[in-house]
Amino acid sequence: MADNPYRPGAAHAPPYLAGRGAERREFSRLLKQTPVLENLVLTGIRGIGKTVLMREALRNDAAENGWIWVGSDISEAVSVSENHLARRLLADLNTFSGDWEYASNERHPLGFTEVAERQSIRFDYQTMMELFEKEPGLASDKIKRILLVAWELLQKHMPDKKGIIFAWDEAQNLADRSEADQYPLGVLLDVFSSLQSQGVPFMLLLTGLPTLFPKLVGSRAYAERMFRVMSLDNLSPDDSREAIAKPLDKQPDWLKTFFNDHSDIIYEFTKGYPYFIQFWCRELYDYLADTRPAATKKGVDIIGRISRKLDMDFFEGRWARLTDRQRDLLSIIAYLENSGGEFTVQEIVAQSKTNDHVFSGSHVNQMLNALFRKGMIFKNRHGKYVLAVPLLDKYIRRRIAQDEAYNPNKHG
Ligand SMILES: Nc1ncnc2c1ncn2[C@@H]1O[C@H](COP(=O)(O)OP(=O)(O)OP(=O)(O)O)[C@@H](O)[C@H]1O
Ligand SMILES: [Mg+2]
Repeated sequence: MADNPYRPGAAHAPPYLAGRGAERREFSRLLKQTPVLENLVLTGIRGIGKTVLMREALRNDAAENGWIWVGSDISEAVSVSENHLARRLLADLNTFSGDWEYASNERHPLGFTEVAERQSIRFDYQTMMELFEKEPGLASDKIKRILLVAWELLQKHMPDKKGIIFAWDEAQNLADRSEADQYPLGVLLDVFSSLQSQGVPFMLLLTGLPTLFPKLVGSRAYAERMFRVMSLDNLSPDDSREAIAKPLDKQPDWLKTFFNDHSDIIYEFTKGYPYFIQFWCRELYDYLADTRPAATKKGVDIIGRISRKLDMDFFEGRWARLTDRQRDLLSIIAYLENSGGEFTVQEIVAQSKTNDHVFSGSHVNQMLNALFRKGMIFKNRHGKYVLAVPLLDKYIRRRIAQDEAYNPNKHG
């Protein structure tokens, strides 16, 4: 049999990128802007498919529309200082500007002071850093000037290009550090909004967890108007079916049939969450490949097995890191009607009254903060909460149901 086509795992390109048509259309609209008025924030929980959407789709869409694309993963190190941010930006530029002649020794056409005693000066990382070090003024002014030069050179060397997209993944790692008097995030926003207001077509595409956009707005209130926010959701039932079926084009018919017959069940267990779709299909494929059609006839509980494996691999480690009280609180949340969507402190308090573990509002608030620090929940823009781990509510209910089966009195 052929190799297993499914790819669960961070940033692994899926065999078939399902759905996301609306997001791609919206991005194409942004690519047509002259001048650039809106930048893009692409957010969503872990494993929802932000990185692969950028790499497998948006990047090509940008290229087809004549944009240069530079991409990086942003680590916390970028936020150490404004100089670190400058280095990140200049290193990104260097990926395509390194061959351009910036100046010969006598000529400094773009107004910078003496750079170095070299014959012909290329607009590479070294030159840009020298300009950065030597220019007087604030970091944001220096970066702006260098990017303006980059824009002039770009028009000269690549006149058919529309502009540059700076596509930064894991951008929730950007932050200002007032205690050190360093504001790299603020500088980034200042630089781009200022260049864009001068008509320079450099666009930001910042991708990250749901904490990203509130962070941008916290640094500069005008970020609210500077970005179009696109938040990725689970795949629809139809798109999920495609994500399941399309990778099997070259596989034997019995296997396709088995997947097709089970795509509703897979959807039931994954709810269209892309990482789980890849995980489920990969497990199922391996199992079928080992056992051949025999397994498809007997009443083997494949579904139960994969579900338990997912619990082991994905949920149990996270659950083990919680305190008893945190588990109690999450168990209350798991039984909210809207546990899979947004919920409020009041709803949790009300639900807790129907249970043996009653929580007060301030206690819930305090514990939600601790759960946020453990990566279990997010607070969204409107002060509501969501589970950061998809289908955690279902997992908790499965656990409680099992516990009750062993110990019927425990949960009243
Ligand atoms: N549209 C899609 N169709 C099919 N599979 C997808 C799709 N989007 C993502 N996947 C799969 O889901 C998994 C997670 O994708 P990805 O790493 O892009 O998520 P992410 O949102 O960037 O997560 P993180 O926040 O952890 O970086 C990968 O295995 C990927 O192949
Ligand atoms: Mg990612």
